[in-house]
Amino acid sequence: MTDLLVPSTATLPQVRRLVTEVPGPRSRELMARRAAVVATGVSTTLPVFVERATGGVVVDVDGNSLIDLGSGIAVVNVGNSAPLVVEAVQQQVAAFTHTCFMVTPYEGYVAVCEELARLTPGDHAKKSALFNSGAEAVENAVKIARSATGRQAVVVFDHAYHGRTNLTMALTAKNMPYKQGFGPFASEIYRVPMSYPYRDQPGLTGTEAAARALALVETQVGAGNVAAVLIEPIQGEGGFVVPAEGFLPAIAQWCHQAGAVFIADEIQTGFCRTGDWFACDAEGVVPDLVTTAKGIAGGLPLAAVTGRAELMDAVHTGGLGGTYGGNPVACAAALASIETMRVQDLAGAARRIGDTMLPRLRALQERTPAIGDVRGRGAMIAVELVRPGTTDPDAGLAGRIARACHAEGVVVLTAGTYGNVLRFLPPLVIGQELLAEALDVVEAAFDTYAHSPGS
Ligand SMILES: Cc1ncc(COP(=O)(O)O)c(C=O)c1O
Repeated sequence: MTDLLVPSTATLPQVRRLVTEVPGPRSRELMARRAAVVATGVSTTLPVFVERATGGVVVDVDGNSLIDLGSGIAVVNVGNSAPLVVEAVQQQVAAFTHTCFMVTPYEGYVAVCEELARLTPGDHAKKSALFNSGAEAVENAVKIARSATGRQAVVVFDHAYHGRTNLTMALTAKNMPYKQGFGPFASEIYRVPMSYPYRDQPGLTGTEAAARALALVETQVGAGNVAAVLIEPIQGEGGFVVPAEGFLPAIAQWCHQAGAVFIADEIQTGFCRTGDWFACDAEGVVPDLVTTAKGIAGGLPLAAVTGRAELMDAVHTGGLGGTYGGNPVACAAALASIETMRVQDLAGAARRIGDTMLPRLRALQERTPAIGDVRGRGAMIAVELVRPGTTDPDAGLAGRIARACHAEGVVVLTAGTYGNVLRFLPPLVIGQELLAEALDVVEAAFDTYAHSPGS
């Protein structure tokens, strides 16, 4: 293992360096301008304005160089401004920027679908349709499943997050901030318990947790009415909940028997994030449909639904699409991102990140009673914070730790139904030294804040 995972991509010094307080004066000025014209509904995790970002660092307008443990919420898996992505985008933008694939098609779109057919789980015939955002992909996966099955019910899970459009708000579990005041929501959505090993009764196996969920589906929905079961193989915004082994295969198997479409939402987990191309790979689960976005295109907006050719083709011609879906610049970026992941073995890099982070965070847990759980896979790692001696969520502490990390120049994010999860999503190209330094900062924040109540 070397610190030079991808040194050639780093056109900015890969260091943490603070030259002002965080946020600095120029960021504060920009925050004031923002407040005047940007809707308050759009939130900000860390009020620093970015000037440049490469590899594992983000440099702000005051010249502070921050270590990125967020990747723009699991997007820049290949690092910010990855060289192949920059080159591909520049070439594409100079050639043509848009024609609309539904009007006059272009090769990049087809090539992305070919890659998706190769990379997503299963060796059956697959087809894809491309969209702009994760939520749009999820909406379309539901459309396809309903059209293919002639059924309407969609089963989703506690703690799920699938987006902010009307249908995906209904599919998402958490009310505040995602749903509050935005109803009425779409109908025919049924929510069942997730396998959440930290919060389930001790010893509940994956197959038992699946049986618990499926019993509700059978009694309250009726297997024959289920168009699709939609699940994140590791939940993202819900707090990086990794289901117990056996849970996903049992759900997939039930879908197969019930004639329901098993949709894996791999929008946050996909593209090497968890140490495999897709999180479903870890247990050999083969979904009927997979939704992808985020990491697919190195920061450009692109999303996809990929699945069994016969399901994808159940929709009438013209039933899927959109003006920008599969934009040529985004497709060029996706092909370059995928190439980068393949050439640099970023799945392996994600596993090494997990191998570095998990032992250190587990050691921190040993001396920190407020850390209830350390979990995750690959470069998708979280700690869940609780009041010592209980499993009562401590969102306040998660916020204090996150702010302390930000002040010291490390970008971290929070998550979780109860807001009490600190999550880490480093770019997969981050150097080991930089990662180690970020962990030093995280540990110091815990040592300062997690042992002094109310600080
Ligand atoms: C699992 C999952 N599904 C769907 C979405 C929605 O994606 P987007 O924000 O691109 O609409 C997200 C975004 O965080 C996600 O993590």
